[in-house]
Amino acid sequence: MKFGGIRFVLCISLLILVPTVPVLAAENAHLLIDASKPGAKIDRNLFGQFAENLGHGLYEGIWVGPDSPIPNTRGIRNDVVTALRALKVPNVRWPGGCFADQYHWRKGIGPAEKRPATLNSAWGGVVDTNSFGTDEFMDFMQQIGSQPYVSVNVGSGTPQEASEWLEYMTAAQPTTLAKERAANGHPDPYKVGFMGIGNESWDCGGNMTAEYYLSQLKIYSRFVDNDNSSQQGPSHMLKIAVGPGFPETEWTETIMKAWQHHHWSWDFDGLSLHWYTVPNGWPPSTPSTGFGVEDYTKTLNSTLLMDEFLRKQEAVMDKYDAKKKVALVVDEWGAWHAPLPGTNKDFLVQQNSLRDAILASLNLNIFARHADRVRMANIAQMVNVLQAMILTDKEKMVVTPTYYVFKMYVPFQDATFIPVDFDPGSLHRDGVTLPRIDALAAKDVTGTLWIEITNLDPEKPVEIDAAIAGTAFKSAKGETLTASAVDSVNTFAAPNTVVPKPISAIVKNGKLALTVEPKSVTVLSLEP
Ligand code: AHR
Repeated sequence: MKFGGIRFVLCISLLILVPTVPVLAAENAHLLIDASKPGAKIDRNLFGQFAENLGHGLYEGIWVGPDSPIPNTRGIRNDVVTALRALKVPNVRWPGGCFADQYHWRKGIGPAEKRPATLNSAWGGVVDTNSFGTDEFMDFMQQIGSQPYVSVNVGSGTPQEASEWLEYMTAAQPTTLAKERAANGHPDPYKVGFMGIGNESWDCGGNMTAEYYLSQLKIYSRFVDNDNSSQQGPSHMLKIAVGPGFPETEWTETIMKAWQHHHWSWDFDGLSLHWYTVPNGWPPSTPSTGFGVEDYTKTLNSTLLMDEFLRKQEAVMDKYDAKKKVALVVDEWGAWHAPLPGTNKDFLVQQNSLRDAILASLNLNIFARHADRVRMANIAQMVNVLQAMILTDKEKMVVTPTYYVFKMYVPFQDATFIPVDFDPGSLHRDGVTLPRIDALAAKDVTGTLWIEITNLDPEKPVEIDAAIAGTAFKSAKGETLTASAVDSVNTFAAPNTVVPKPISAIVKNGKLALTVEPKSVTVLSLEP
């Protein structure tokens, strides 16, 4: 198997370990990294997140209200904000998801006591107080230092409603809507970096055909705009069209074919792709706790299909957009497991294990290898829903293994892809063949070279030696994330079960040598 044009040789050698744990033979892997051959920019927006009005994702997870005994700033949890700031989250998609196509923004502005109580019919039919609306979302963005990615309602809304929402958010001129925003405490217009035109319009967003959606897309793209004067020209808000959520390419064909010779009146900058890791198919049935190696290998095997889906989409996009003007935006991805027993199944609550952390690193590496076309992605979701960064229960909060992967990958945001030549080897388990390792390298803006190595092998360490050309370095430092079992999780009672720990590497004559532990994610920087 070849990854990213890379060659790597695996051979068996014996590693002497402390005899209290079962001693398993280590594998060897050789990496060739040439920093003088830079590739595409790994856009920071690949590390975006998704916060839908779903279960306890927003309410309780982010928003507790200003009167809550849980420490908060204007209703937004301080502990969650502090944790998220460390991830440098580049953008957050809101309010959905399926919820976006039933959201009417006017219900979520103005004095909280005057906002109507509505039903969240997308997710469990629960009462929605609408107390977390547009101004609260913008406050949240400002508190965590991120950019809003707003999904407008195409399914049950109108172009006029969406256009007025954008005017409310972004107009500086003294229009009635801008004055209403000012009266609600926000005289300055907001910046909206990204606008999604509908969500899964082929499914929960209205079960449209591609042709029907295309007609809607043209209208929304024409009439829904950003009025903020600082977001015109090259730094304009990116409009993202609905793309497929399945491996077929018919939908993409229809949309991209029309885009190729599009009329002046409409355009878009990104086409979305939704794809979840659901190893046993729908409905999701893999447990998120208390599973074994078989579930682990099956899940990782399934997640690696992301690469093939991206290739299929890219082939169609290349046909109509050879210059890669339109970005492929994977704005929903991640592991979708069975709901945790005892939870509301419509709230999509799952634990998050070391397996999910490894799954996250594999997907981030795939996105980075496709960085010339894939320029944005949003893991689903941010807090308490699906593959979350953070879990909360009333005043308690814990960060997940996936959180740590996102933290370890911060240096890759906006770094330049550097090819790594390696043979990933193969791992045969339970009828599944997996690559044994994965690797990624990138140079950040300061010129520092960063290397990531994922060891998928649940049992064996891998001795890595890497020949590095095109950059001078004297030492290396880094962190590794692993734990005792593939299903290890962080809980409120034991929050530090899966946390990164420092790792050392030997540097000699332009080479790097280190051993990566079984089932681990490691990130190192080379120091001058
Ligand atoms: O992330 C949960 C749901 O998955 C989203 O609302 C929807 O877009 C997708 O089907």
